[in-house]
Amino acid sequence: MKQIPATPPVGSAASDGFSLSTFRESDIDEITRLLQTDAVTIDLAQLPLHYTRQHAVQYFEYLENLKQNQPEIASLKFAIREQCIGKPMGRIDVAPDVDGWKIGYWLGFDYWGQEIMTWACKEILAVARACGITKIYGQPKYGNWASRRVLDSRISKMSGDIFGLMNGILFVGEWKHS
Ligand SMILES: CC(C)(COP(=O)(O)OP(=O)(O)OC[C@H]1O[C@@H](n2cnc3c(N)ncnc32)[C@H](O)[C@@H]1OP(=O)(O)O)[C@@H](O)C(=O)NCCC(=O)NCCS
Repeated sequence: MKQIPATPPVGSAASDGFSLSTFRESDIDEITRLLQTDAVTIDLAQLPLHYTRQHAVQYFEYLENLKQNQPEIASLKFAIREQCIGKPMGRIDVAPDVDGWKIGYWLGFDYWGQEIMTWACKEILAVARACGITKIYGQPKYGNWASRRVLDSRISKMSGDIFGLMNGILFVGEWKHS
């Protein structure tokens, strides 16, 4: 897999008012605040329900370690930011998982319902595709309708020749008909 730059060359980032970039140590307090809303963490199996600043510090340290040891994996983990002031709003990544590459994301509660995650998914899928990743799993829990809508309804229809959803698997790049 190719390694990509920390800030991906995403065309629509500036015009949409959001950007994807690496996490910074200065994000820790805002990330903690955003993840202290149970509605955000309840469907995220890998996050504790009662999130503390120490969890955010540990995540930042994990990312720093990953950058040293597995930079190609670290380069697919992004903070979603407000473009103007750089404030973190959420997280999105594509990461190796048991069944292949898996997309994961969350957005601070205040930012829901503005199509921000639809935008972020589109951006990271283009980055993944540029890295040679052609198949990505998304596994929202049953009942997580917002997340299912993002992948099933919005992303899969966005551009038929780039993205497609088949049997719960999101294909990026070449659309494979069975
Ligand atoms: C899932 C999540 C990322 C969605 O982000 P978002 O920026 O609000 O999503 P978008 O605005 O791009 O699109 C959401 C779609 O879901 C719908 N939606 C939003 N909130 C909803 C809700 N509470 N119930 C049902 N549908 C909802 C929107 O109407 C839209 O569907 P549409 O295409 O019919 O208009 C956000 O709700 C979140 O961070 N949730 C907590 C973490 C999480 O569940 N992560 C995913 C784990 S798999």
